[in-house]
Amino acid sequence: MLSYQHAYHAGGPADLHKHIVLAELLARLTAKPRGISYAETHAGRALYDLAAPEALKTGEAAQGIARLAPDPATPFGRALAATRTQHGPTAYPGSPLIARTLLRPQDRLTLMELHPAEHAALAKALPGAAIHRRDGYEGLLALAPLAPRRGLVLVDPSYEMKGEYAAAAGFARRLLAKWPEAAILLWYPLLPEARHRALLAALAPLALFVDEVAFAPRPSRGMTGSGLALLNAPWGAAAAFAAAHAQAAPVLVPKTR
Ligand SMILES: C[S@@+](CC[C@H](N)C(=O)[O-])C[C@H]1O[C@@H](n2cnc3c(N)ncnc32)[C@H](O)[C@@H]1O
Repeated sequence: MLSYQHAYHAGGPADLHKHIVLAELLARLTAKPRGISYAETHAGRALYDLAAPEALKTGEAAQGIARLAPDPATPFGRALAATRTQHGPTAYPGSPLIARTLLRPQDRLTLMELHPAEHAALAKALPGAAIHRRDGYEGLLALAPLAPRRGLVLVDPSYEMKGEYAAAAGFARRLLAKWPEAAILLWYPLLPEARHRALLAALAPLALFVDEVAFAPRPSRGMTGSGLALLNAPWGAAAAFAAAHAQAAPVLVPKTR
């Protein structure tokens, strides 16, 4: 099913959690001269307009990025500032554009996006990037291990169907079996049904770092928070999460688990 469109959710509190942590991790992974591989299973269109009807309809960006003034000296702030400079003040970078801004010539960017319109928009936003229009799990498992072997994979499904939690956990296990050096950053929503608990239980045998935040103010219904599971956490991961929490306050409140 491909009805999900990230334009409704871009720049919302969940995006801030995922994007600020991602930027902090990439900054640490690229601190040494050696190149890395960065890949995404569910890339989205990379460039969003927060003045578009989709973003205005949900008001998620108004509850998220509109309440923050990211410091351009931080990795996320740098990506946001570069996006606004190039595309205007209401532009917002999705994860592929954040990565493209922070990666260096010696790093490799590989993106999977199945939806035809999102794929076309992604190709337009990131000309020259390695973009695959195929199922993200199937595609990345076919390509893994990527070279350079040191790297990070973002797994960011829409969780429209119950089975996506089990699919994400199964993918992470299979990918690490083929590419043991990869770190995997897996996003999940905190919903009243708490289906993420089964996902974390399935991942528990692997080396796992879990970071969960609550949205403030607490939404009256739907998603109340955001979670990130980091497998094979690279050096500096704890500092990356701490830096993200500091930058996202007061929109996101770290949860104790
Ligand atoms: C949550 S959005 C991605 C947002 C993006 N990672 C970001 O943070 O900017 C999920 C995306 O996955 C795409 N998608 C859905 N099923 C897919 C599949 N099986 N393989 C690859 N992409 C898929 C959707 O079209 C959507 O663009």
